[in-house]
Order: sequence, then C-alpha cells, then structure tokens
Amino acid sequence: MSTSHKLFLEAQQYIPGGVNSPVRAWRAVGGDPLFIQRGRGCRVIDADGREYLDYVGSWGPLIAGHAHPQIVRALEESLKRGTSFGAPTAKEIELAKMIVAAVPSIEKVRLTSSGTEATMTALRLARGYTKRTKILKFAGCYHGHSDALLVRAGSGALTFSQPDSQGVPEAFASQTLVADYNNLASVEAYCKADPTGIAAVIVEPIAGNMGLILPKPEFLSGLRKITQEYGIVLIFDEVISGFRVGLGGAQALYNITPDLTCLGKIVGGGMPLAAVGGKREIMDMLAPLGPVYQAGTLSGNPLAVTAGVETLKLVSAPGTYHRLNELGAMMAEGLRVAVKDTGTLACVNQIGSMFTLFFGVEQVDDYATATQSDTQLFARFFQGMIARGFYLPPSQFETCFISLVHGEAEVRETVAAAKDVLKNLRL
Ligand SMILES: Cc1ncc(COP(=O)(O)O)c(C=O)c1O
Repeated sequence: MSTSHKLFLEAQQYIPGGVNSPVRAWRAVGGDPLFIQRGRGCRVIDADGREYLDYVGSWGPLIAGHAHPQIVRALEESLKRGTSFGAPTAKEIELAKMIVAAVPSIEKVRLTSSGTEATMTALRLARGYTKRTKILKFAGCYHGHSDALLVRAGSGALTFSQPDSQGVPEAFASQTLVADYNNLASVEAYCKADPTGIAAVIVEPIAGNMGLILPKPEFLSGLRKITQEYGIVLIFDEVISGFRVGLGGAQALYNITPDLTCLGKIVGGGMPLAAVGGKREIMDMLAPLGPVYQAGTLSGNPLAVTAGVETLKLVSAPGTYHRLNELGAMMAEGLRVAVKDTGTLACVNQIGSMFTLFFGVEQVDDYATATQSDTQLFARFFQGMIARGFYLPPSQFETCFISLVHGEAEVRETVAAAKDVLKNLRL
C-alpha cells in the first residue's frame, strides 16, 4: 500500500473528503491523490519519494518554481523577525508600489489573504460605489467561493458538476446574472433589460477555470465599452492572469483599462496573499477612508508580503515573459503534433505559460464547448501521465502552468510522454 494511500485513508477520518480544497481529491480522474512531501524547482516529490515534473505549480502561484533560493532566503530572514503583527509594516508599501507600477489600471491596492476575499471585496466596492445591487459574471468563470460568485462557477464547481452550491440563499443568487463568455450580445441583453441595476461586470480576462479559454479579439474591448455606457464597474479578475501573461497582466496585453482588478496566486509567491486594486476614487471608498468595510487579521502578513516582493522581483527580470512565451508555444506546438500523429480528437489552448489539452473536441471558446469535452478520456490521459512522472491538474477544467525553472528539455520530455500516452489511449 502506498504512503499516499495510507495518508489519504487517515485524512478522510478527520478532514471532509480528506482534502482542504475539493479538486485535490482527484474525484474527477479517480485514484488516490498524491500527498506531496516537498518541491524542488519544477518538480514535486510525493510521500513515497517518487518525483514528478510539476505543471500544477500550486494552481498558478509558483511561477518561480518550488523553494526558489531567493524566496527561501528572504522568508528565513523575515521569519526570524516574527510571523505576524497585525500592524502596518514597511514591506507592505514595497509590494503595493510594485503592484501599482506594474499593473496599468491600479492606482491604489488593498492586500487580502485569498483571491476569494479579493473578488468579494471588489464586488462590495462596486456595489457601494454605484449604489446598485446586481452583478454580472460569465458561465464557467470562477472567482472564489463567496456566495454571490458561486453561481455557474468553473474550476472545482464545474469539475464536480455542481456549478451552483447548496447553502447559497436564492435571494443572493438571484442578484447574480450569468452571461456567456466571448458573447457580448448576452451582456448587452442584460444591460438593456435593467439599465441602472447592474453594479459590476466581473470577468476572467483570460479564462482559466473551465480549462484555458482565450478572449476573442473584440470581447474585452466590447465589455469596456458597454460597462462605460451603462455606468457599470468593470472588474478584471486577474488572480490567474496577473503577472502570468506579463507584468501588467491581461489588461496590459490587450490594452484595456478595467476599473478594479483582483490579483492573487503569483502576487503572493506561494503564500496566502491576494489583492484588490484600481481607480483611486473607488479604492478610497474602503474603510477606514470610506463607508465600504473590509478587513483581515492576517492581511498583508509579513511572510506573505516578502514572498510576493521576491517573486515580483524575479519576474521583473528582463526576458522573463519572452522565455515563458517560447516555452508555452513549444509545448502547444509539440502537443498539437502529438495529437495529430496519434489521430486523437483533441485541441490545445495556450497563451504564454498556460495551456490546456481538451479531449473529444475540435475547438473550445466558451462554457458550452468546454463542457462537451471528453472527461473520461482526459482522466485516462491524466493517469497515463502520472504513471510516467508528470503531475498535471486532476481535472479537464483546469489550466497547466509552466514555470521559469522549466526548460526546453522538460518540455520535450513532456511532449514525448504525452505522445506515448495518447498512442495507448487509442488501444
Ligand atoms: C480567477 C480566480 N479568481 C479567484 C480565485 C479564488 O482565489 P483563492 O482560491 O485564493 O480564494 C481563483 C482560484 O483559483 C481564481 O482562479
């Protein structure tokens, strides 16, 4: 019996489902989840001592890989000075300045401990600012697990075919409108039906939680135009795309200025840290300056801030995104050739260092097409890759991440393994 199996049996006695976040349980792919004992560079080592090439990267934060020496050194120094003060520290200003300098639309920023808190705060700010109540999101976009946003959500909710959660009062859910990703007409229809009712449109400018789905060329600029026309706050949820597709995130890449931006994952360098930022006028509505309340015992925690600062220093080095783009393109190209050579019906979506291999479909650009993919075939592919030492996210509806410490050799190795697995899938 493997150590991971033993640990999973024990964990299930004390922790619901044995995990502290649902997708970790591998329910969508079957088998026991690996318990990880440590990570090194682009690899993780499980409780049985087996090594895997890692494309989960803690679900996105680890753009610098595991235990990067520069981050570890800074954390050690910070740790010696104490773990938490619940009082302001100079390091928080350093991180805030780096965020404001990097992300074009952010004039002021508030740090939180999770992406869920960041999006929840962004919605509250939008409602306080506009004095309206409704919010509009897109089917298959995931913005954390707050009540208003667990409606037709992606990621784990989609993986378990529970895009709506029990426990969310109907009265709350009814304030959340759901439009179709990459479909401006569906947004316009809601706006026309209630021209002064919608406080915010929240969107993943690059959708990473129904697998990776790219915005069509006019989609984001169209959203900016419509929201301006109707006086709606436009929130870009860049928890995944922030510092992932470039220093300025998707908004810099596509040259769109949202009113508010949510950041998470990379901005905390693998520690619990996220952020909401945006226009000064809206951000200054937050307590203690304004009437919109938001707080957190561990917000701006010194260790988390330190990991964030060091990670942002690392990604700010010249050539970072050029390199990540090259590796991502090489991966996508390699996988497409493998798909073709093995006669598999599948497609690859990729941008920069993010990619998803969708099975059983030719093209995926929204929730409807994503949910047509063959999750059984994905599960078999996943198990084949695990058996060969490649750790992918355990769901069709997630995104793979390449880090700065992956290289061409690792990409080649991965493509070769994928081709081998795809060949066997057809048998
Ligand atoms: C786009 C997006 N927004 C928000 C969140 C929620 O962040 P957290 O899990 O830190 O609460 C996630 C998490 O995966 C996410 O992908």
